[in-house]
Formats: sequence, C-alpha cells, structure tokens
Amino acid sequence: MARTPVIVGNWKMNLTRSAAADLVNALRAKLDGVRDVEIGVCPVATVIPSIAPLLAGSAIRHGAQNVHWEDSGAFTGEISGEMLRELGCTYAIVGHSERRQYFGETDARVNQRAKAALRWDLTPIICVGETLEEREAGKTLEVVGRQIRGCLEGWSAEELKKAVLAYEPVWAIGTGKTATPEQAQEVHAMIRGLLTELFDADTAQAIRIQYGGSVKPDNVKSLMAQPDIDGALVGGASLKAEQFVPLVRFRD
Ligand code: 13P
Repeated sequence: MARTPVIVGNWKMNLTRSAAADLVNALRAKLDGVRDVEIGVCPVATVIPSIAPLLAGSAIRHGAQNVHWEDSGAFTGEISGEMLRELGCTYAIVGHSERRQYFGETDARVNQRAKAALRWDLTPIICVGETLEEREAGKTLEVVGRQIRGCLEGWSAEELKKAVLAYEPVWAIGTGKTATPEQAQEVHAMIRGLLTELFDADTAQAIRIQYGGSVKPDNVKSLMAQPDIDGALVGGASLKAEQFVPLVRFRD
C-alpha cells in the first residue's frame, strides 16, 4: 500500500515570531510545489497565530507540540484541542521523549492526549523510543512495544488510522547520532507487526510511522528508502530552510 510520506518539523522551544515568519516565508518559496509529501511545522504555541496566516493556501500545514486531555478547566499552563483547532492546527505531537523525560509524561497520559487530539480533528503524532541504556541492554523492542501498547490501549482501528506514529530513539535526538537505516527499519517493522496483532493488517499497513532523531539532508534518503519508514519528525534541521527544504525534497 502506498503511504504518503509525512515530514514534520518540531521546532521545540525555538524561534520567536519574526524568526518564525522568515523561516515560513523561505519554506513556502521552496516547498509550495511539493505534492507527493505531506509537510508540517510545529512551532511553539505562542507563534502559531502569527504563522498560520502566512501558511494559508500553502502546501505546509501547522501543528502544536502538545495538547491537553481535557477540553477546558483548571489546568494551568496547558492548551486544549479546541484551542488548537481554533488556530487551524492539523497536528498535535504527543509523548515526545522530552515531555516524558522532563515533564513526567506516561503512556497513559499520552494515550489521553492523543484521544483529545482526535476529538478535535487533530492528527496526533504519537512518539515512542528507547533510551541508550535500554538499547544497550537489548530492550529496544520490548520498551517500544510496551509504549505502543500503552499509548494505544482502548483504541479502535478507525481511531488509529487517523494518527501518525513516530519512532524517535532518545539517544539519536539532538546528538547528531542517527539510527542506521537498518536499526530504524527493525523497530518500524516491529511496530507494524504489533499493530497487525493488536488491530488488523489493513490498519497496520495504512498507518504512517515517522523516524526522528538527527534526520539531516544527507541521511534522509537512506532512511526513507526503508520499507516501513514513512516520514520524518525533524528537530534541529527543521529550523533552517536550507536544511528542511532538501529534507522534504528527498526524492529530488
Ligand atoms: P533532532 O532532529 O534535533 O535530533 O530532534 C529530533 C526530534 O526530537 C524531533 O521531534
């Protein structure tokens, strides 16, 4: 089954409004003609309202870096799906390893956040991935399998089809140390196999699984050539047009 590649920039806590506007304008100039890749950028929440109009009518969608599981209420510092919907968001990243590591996100919370995204017609990008310690202990498949089960517990196949998964080995994030295409493919294939078991083969074949962790213009081609890698979630290289553009245009 042909899955449209999805390449999304996770800007993390970078770029204020004017820098974000410059980047978005540079991306539009080079990416508006791209039709065979789904493209997204996820700025900090305060920047979304200023870049949304700049992206109107373009091939580039925008999203948020998190979403709360409730629609409103006493949750200081959080943002709901309804609020993101109002800003025209397409995506909400959930369960990023930085959220797990620094803010105590658990699989159960990620599950709830992703469900809230679906309620508001946002595509959750659900992140999983092992630490270096877990990889070295030979526990990669076990850890990622457990995360997938926890994040998707209680989901229907119809719900899953509206999500995107992202495999991001923690040791590859921001380190310049990318998983080899073979290492990434092994985990992606395991995830797809698990989805076949938990849901069904059609759903598992339809779902897109991004790789994330030091994706750069010089390694994107070999990663995207793997049969179960359907896109990229990009940190550092998404902050510069001269890197993000060739990354999205990996087929050129
Ligand atoms: P880097 O591309 O900077 O390694 O970050 C990856 C990431 O965490 C994307 O969500």
